[in-house]
Amino acid sequence: MTESLTIRRPDDWHLHLRDGAMMETVLPETARHFGRAIIMPNLVPPVVTAADAAAYRDRIMAALPEGQAFEPLMTLYMTETTDPQDVRRAAESGLVKAVKLYPAGATTNSASGVRDFDKVRGVLEMMAEIGLPMCVHGEVTTPDVDIFDREAVFIETVLDPLRRNTPGLRVVMEHVTTADGVNYVKSQEDMGGTITTHHLIINRNHILVGGIKPHYYCLPVAKREVHRLALVEAATSGDAHFFLGTDSAPHPDHLKEHACGCAGVFSATNTMSCLAEVFEAEDALDRLEAFASLNGPTFYRLPVSDETITLTKGAPVDYPAKLEGGAGPVTVFDPGFPLHWRVDA
Ligand code: NCD
Ligand code: ZN
Ligand code: ZN
Repeated sequence: MTESLTIRRPDDWHLHLRDGAMMETVLPETARHFGRAIIMPNLVPPVVTAADAAAYRDRIMAALPEGQAFEPLMTLYMTETTDPQDVRRAAESGLVKAVKLYPAGATTNSASGVRDFDKVRGVLEMMAEIGLPMCVHGEVTTPDVDIFDREAVFIETVLDPLRRNTPGLRVVMEHVTTADGVNYVKSQEDMGGTITTHHLIINRNHILVGGIKPHYYCLPVAKREVHRLALVEAATSGDAHFFLGTDSAPHPDHLKEHACGCAGVFSATNTMSCLAEVFEAEDALDRLEAFASLNGPTFYRLPVSDETITLTKGAPVDYPAKLEGGAGPVTVFDPGFPLHWRVDA
């Protein structure tokens, strides 16, 4: 039985750091264990231009506590007026590592997203040319499509046609939540898929049975158990298409515990301990490093970390239930089982 596991320092390929007081509260939670993270651009207003991304990166670095090393990998929020030349310069200077596509209205702060894909053709073609990945929130927003079907319908009606129209475009399907998503990603070249910690652990019953649990509500919403099992199989298989993107997305408790509660699960604090439990249960601890530390940099054509972290199994670790802080409290993801793996970073 493995009691201790040393892996290369993990990265988080989908993270919401927010801004201001909230960023100060949550940034140390990620930087404690992770070396880098792809930083989502859905601020209000969004991070649209290279200048926005440079300023946001400076705010992140200024908020980083002394002694923590962390590299934010910046993204731009694609709008219908995004300038291909601005994106190209931002990518070629190394500032920006991906462009994020939100279908308008699909999720938290996505009102400036894309409605008419013809308007972003020039950006997509330039990205294909220079190999800059596009990260996608893969859900349709059509009101007559059931919320549990929105990912599968998106693949068929939006993502696959868009990829066929843009040969060479490298796409990350973010926070895959269905077997449909897993099967699509793994059958494609030039594609990656991020999987969150919480989607490996909860299904839709966790949200709805025995009373509504707002802290398990996120988008895409957790699906049936068969889909969760498909995600576990993909993440623990070692398949290079799949890598960790926690989608850790903090909202203050009063906006989660609300008549119209926000979507987002905050898992930065205990993600590596949660993942160790998931991988151990599948007898796949030897593949945790591929999922959390190797497959992501390979897809993004970045070096893997030359640092390591060590996970050690023992008595359950006491993580805080909530982060208190300027913009909090923020509830930490509760996996519903004890976490025996301590992280020494
Ligand atoms: C994210 C957020 O709060 O910004 N929420 C979520 O439920 N995942 C947005 C997103 O990633 O879709
Ligand atoms: Zn999303
Ligand atoms: Zn997200």
